[in-house]
Amino acid sequence: MSLRVTRQTEEQSESQGGFPGAVPRHVAIIMDGNGRWAGRRGLPRSAGHSKGVESVRRAVAAALDFGVEYLTLYSFSSENWRRPKEEVGYLLNLLRRFANRDVSELHAQGVRIKVIGERSSLAPDIVTLIERAEEMTQANSAMTLMVAFNYGGRDELARAVRELAQQVLSGHLLPSEITPDLISNHLDTASIPDPELVIRTSGEQRLSNFLLWQSAYSEFVFVEEAWPDFDREIFASALKQYMLRDRRFGGLAATSL
Ligand code: IPE
Ligand code: IPE
Ligand code: MG
Repeated sequence: MSLRVTRQTEEQSESQGGFPGAVPRHVAIIMDGNGRWAGRRGLPRSAGHSKGVESVRRAVAAALDFGVEYLTLYSFSSENWRRPKEEVGYLLNLLRRFANRDVSELHAQGVRIKVIGERSSLAPDIVTLIERAEEMTQANSAMTLMVAFNYGGRDELARAVRELAQQVLSGHLLPSEITPDLISNHLDTASIPDPELVIRTSGEQRLSNFLLWQSAYSEFVFVEEAWPDFDREIFASALKQYMLRDRRFGGLAATSL
């Protein structure tokens, strides 16, 4: 409760600090450009990934300050297994290190951690670390940090469809009862509001299988900087761009009503 009050107080002071509108409840970020950042400096790709962890810490701290309720970070896609074995191994170890070093600090800050993505094919020790982080932080309410790991929107939808098909087969569900809400409730993000804003770094302008269903009406902000250079100012600027957008959801602009 006290954490929530703190967050709202900070949110108010930030909006006095120049935000032209309401801070989105859910911001999702495609953290891209680590490898190119490193390549430009003559460093191995792993150096970019390692530097990217510092941006993760900065992004979480800024999101807490800005009063964002849900921050989703795309950290490993279901297609990233296609990379060389050494790079995949490095990324898996970074997750292990993050779970071991950062989770208790996030817990102290009142952050609830949730990991989305396919879990059953991950190494058992990683699954244990994920479950421990989720359990330890489940009652926190300052912010929810969703880490998308071994996540792919198509895989998530396929898993949801499989579950629903199973229910139909066992006679617990009628096909006519399958609605968009029911599908939402069977995704990894069940009970989490859709992201109002999706940010992608490094100048690429694509979704790469991220939150396909949930981003149906999201606003997109593409920033030129690579993920290791992402900071509070870039985040604030993306929020401001979002606030100036006119969201219509298929209807008409508020001004023309
Ligand atoms: C993002 O940076 C991190 C992951 C996808 C795991 P990249 O590794 O994709 O870096 P670029 O896009 O090749 O520069
Ligand atoms: C998307 O980035 C995945 C993550 C940020 C984890 P990629 O670098 O894998 O995407 P593509 O291959 O450029 O589309
Ligand atoms: Mg990339």
